[in-house]
Amino acid sequence: MSHSQHKQATFQYQDLGPASSNSRAEILAGLREERKRISPKYFYDDTGSTLFEEITRQPEYYPTRTERHILTEHAMDMAAAIGTGTVLMEPGAGSCEKVRLLLDALKPTAYVPMDIAGDFLQRSAAGLQRQFPWLHIAALRADFAAMPSLPQGLPAGPRTLFYPGSTLGNFSPLQATSFLRHAKRLVGDGGTLLIGVDLHKDSATLNRAYNDSAGVTARFNRNTLHHLNRILPADFEPLQFSHVAFYNSDCHRIEMYLESQTEQTVTAAGEAIYFSTGERIHTEISCKYSQESFTALAAAADLKVRNCWRDAEDLFAVFLLTSGET
Ligand code: AVJ
Repeated sequence: MSHSQHKQATFQYQDLGPASSNSRAEILAGLREERKRISPKYFYDDTGSTLFEEITRQPEYYPTRTERHILTEHAMDMAAAIGTGTVLMEPGAGSCEKVRLLLDALKPTAYVPMDIAGDFLQRSAAGLQRQFPWLHIAALRADFAAMPSLPQGLPAGPRTLFYPGSTLGNFSPLQATSFLRHAKRLVGDGGTLLIGVDLHKDSATLNRAYNDSAGVTARFNRNTLHHLNRILPADFEPLQFSHVAFYNSDCHRIEMYLESQTEQTVTAAGEAIYFSTGERIHTEISCKYSQESFTALAAAADLKVRNCWRDAEDLFAVFLLTSGET
């Protein structure tokens, strides 16, 4: 089927967001723990999503431009391996920027971007619609980690899950496996997964990427506290916490924290949370893989690596996974 034979393209937006009381309980549970933690999904309010876009433009942050380069270079090969006319889903779609590199080659029957930052998603999906008037878009505000089901009325045919940006790295390997299992169920028989993965490399390059000299990553990290102040509410003083990020080479992951500069007590949703000087809140991990370790991770979810596209310096990889049975 060619573009011109599509019915008038439709644009839908649906909010499957969790009740705010759920988020509140989840955040408080993390802050009560011996080793305090906040889920990285709380980076992404409107400001956080914008700050992340700014991170991707920093000279030290190589993943985004490297992945864009791989997608641009190999879009035709990817489309040939995946097949045109699939329903293309993208959890954590954010700015819907990367998918633009694939749309002309892949010609999906529908695009289903999902993100927890609803307003941001709605704006970027609307912008995408203007640039690709032929594309059916069904935007979904949802926490993909909560494994939502897909909206009704999507075209039949094979499904592809696009998960670029090494977002999978935010999960521990165990969580990543269960994510991949869910993704495999979602795409079903004959479905494919196209996943961007940041690769193992020297610590210096990684440490620079998460400690950019303009301080954007630090602002991004601290923005979580502004976000919590608004949604709980709470009275964090973000500048009383400093940004800490380093590569843990034993675990092959970046670890990111907010470190209390002083002894302080914060009130969060009516509850007093005490911090000693130097105490940290864990905010993110960003796991790095090799071709071998990612192949093993996929195998644990009963998925096979069909293809792997990399840049010339082996900084980043885009994997095409298919169901183990086929
Ligand atoms: C969006 C999860 C892929 O881990 O590199 C960037 C988030 N955190 N700088 C990453 C992030 C700090 C990013 N991911």
